[in-house]
Amino acid sequence: MIQAHGNFLAFGSTVLEYKLHAGTGQRVARIPKVSPKSKPIATDRGQRNFSRHQFTSHSNLTMPALVSYEGRELDLTSDAIDEVNVLKTKTWNDRSEFDAAKDKAQFRQYKDACDRVKGFYKEQHEKQTMDFNIKVRVKFNAQKRARMGIWEAMEMLNKLVDESDPDTSVSQIEHLLQTAEAIRRDGKPDWMQVTGLVHDLGKLWCMFGSEGQWDVVGDTFVVGCKFSDKNIYPETFNTNPDSKDPLYSSEYGVYQPHCGLDNVMLSWGHDEYLYSVLKDQSSLPEEGLAMIRYHSFYPWHREGAYAHLTNHKDIKALEAVRAFNPYDLYSKSDEPCDPVKLKPYYEELIAKFFPPELDW
Ligand SMILES: [Fe+2]
Ligand SMILES: [Fe+2]
Repeated sequence: MIQAHGNFLAFGSTVLEYKLHAGTGQRVARIPKVSPKSKPIATDRGQRNFSRHQFTSHSNLTMPALVSYEGRELDLTSDAIDEVNVLKTKTWNDRSEFDAAKDKAQFRQYKDACDRVKGFYKEQHEKQTMDFNIKVRVKFNAQKRARMGIWEAMEMLNKLVDESDPDTSVSQIEHLLQTAEAIRRDGKPDWMQVTGLVHDLGKLWCMFGSEGQWDVVGDTFVVGCKFSDKNIYPETFNTNPDSKDPLYSSEYGVYQPHCGLDNVMLSWGHDEYLYSVLKDQSSLPEEGLAMIRYHSFYPWHREGAYAHLTNHKDIKALEAVRAFNPYDLYSKSDEPCDPVKLKPYYEELIAKFFPPELDW
C-alpha cells in the first residue's frame, strides 16, 4: 500500500522522495530514496476502523454510460489475452503435445496473435508509467467505492459483462466458478478453492476508476526499473516515458537487489486492485494472496524474469502461483456451472475467509 508522509511515498520498504512541480504544485516522482535501513513506515494492517468511513453503496453508484460497450470490449480483450497465454504455454512447455511441425505452427499463431492483443499491449506498455502507478494507488487509498459481500461482487461483475455480450464464450461468474470447481475436483484445500472463486473480482476496477482496459487486464510487470525483455511484446515499451528515464530504465531502478516482490510496484490491473482490497479484509493465507496478486505476472511466473528483485519469500509465492495458473487458464473449457446450485457451498467458504461485507 502506498503511504504518503510529507514528501515521501512508501510502498513496502521502498521509499520515494517527491519533488513539488514548480508550475503545477503537483508531486512528481523523481528522487529514489531507497535504503534497506530506512525506518519502516508502519502499515495500517489490522488498525483500520472501516466504520468511520463514509461508503457508497454500489447500488447508488453512477454507472458510466458506456458500461455495456466497455464490458464487451474488456471481455473480448481478456479472452484474447488468455488465448495468447494458453498458446504460449502449449508452445513452450507442453512438449509432449506438440511435435516440431506443430510447434512451428503454434509459434506462428502466437506471433500472429490478433491485432486486438497487440494493440492492447501497445497502449498498456505506453501508459503504465511509474507516475501513473503512484497516482492510481493514491486514488485507490483516497476513497472507498462500494461496500458489499463477495457473492454480490461476483454478481456485479457478471452483470457488467453478461449484459454487454451474450456471445462471449464464458461469463465472468462462470469463469470464477469453473476455476473454483476445478480446484475443488482436484481435492485442493478450501482456501485455494475460494481464491479461485474470487481471483478475477478485481475486474470491477473497470467500473470503479479505470482509465481504459489497459489498467484492468493483461500481463503485469514491474515498473520503476528496466522493463524486462521477457515481457510480451517488449518492443512496445519504447513509447513508455520511463524507458527513457535514466533511473527507471536502469537494471534495479528504484529497488535494492533482492528486495522482494512485496517491495516492488507492479503495473496496476485487476490483480493488484483485488490484492489491495483483500490483503486486509480476508483471512486467506499468504499463498492465496500471492495467487491473486501475481496470477497475471507471466514474465515472472512463467518466463523467469525479475529474479534479481525476488527474495526467499517469493519462492513460496512462485510455487503457489504456478500451482494456480492451470486452473485459471484451462478450466474455461470445462462443463458449465450452475451458480444457483453451487451458491450454498461457496457461501459457506466465503463466510470462512471474508467478512459479510468488504470495502471495495
Ligand atoms: Fe485474471
Ligand atoms: Fe481468470
